[in-house]
Amino acid sequence: MSESKNIEWHLSKVMKTERQDRNKHKSTVLWFTGLSGSGKSTISAELEKVLFEKGVQVYRLDGDNIRHGLNKNLGFSPEDRSENIRRIGEVAKLMVDAGMITLTAFISPYRKDRELVRKLLEDDEFIEVYVKARIETCEARDPKGLYKKVRNGEIINFTGIDAPYEEPHKPELMIDTDQLSLEQSVNLIIDYLIENGYIK
Ligand code: ADX
Repeated sequence: MSESKNIEWHLSKVMKTERQDRNKHKSTVLWFTGLSGSGKSTISAELEKVLFEKGVQVYRLDGDNIRHGLNKNLGFSPEDRSENIRRIGEVAKLMVDAGMITLTAFISPYRKDRELVRKLLEDDEFIEVYVKARIETCEARDPKGLYKKVRNGEIINFTGIDAPYEEPHKPELMIDTDQLSLEQSVNLIIDYLIENGYIK
């Protein structure tokens, strides 16, 4: 519930559809979810570059980066993770309103938090991309050395080890990074965006 009183919504004189028309593509959120080390950041960063080179207005919000700034007061308790996702959802909604294709790369382990973001947006403005990899694969990759720290007892409540990850039931896209290369993963998403009329 909002804590602020005496506030009104101020309407813009520029519509979202006008921004989309100028950009020559729709705006939407591609919500990447999955375990740490599953490939969310790698795939979304490459996708951002490919879309940018195609002339698309695109921007990426990434868990580790956002936790340095906007969400630096949040940790990894279930409540803080929910608040993390709620804020990102609101930021992503603003960016969709601004006409951007918005990529978000957060573990977002709780189904209810992801569903809350889905409800903030129009039906075709939330594309859930489940980046799936076996926990053993993520641990073997260990790009930030965090799984090693978990095993040494330096980190607790780590997703997939001693904190839950709730798989999406019906993601719009599933990318199995145990099977697919980076290029194949990016191409799959680009094809989805073209087939569903988001970009040309
Ligand atoms: S989320 O659960 O709230 O969605 P978010 O994606 O923002 O997480 O941040 C996850 C990143 O924080 C991981 O990729 C990892 O680098 C780091 N991290 C630090 N501690 C933890 C932890 N206990 N569980 C998961 N990730 C952690």
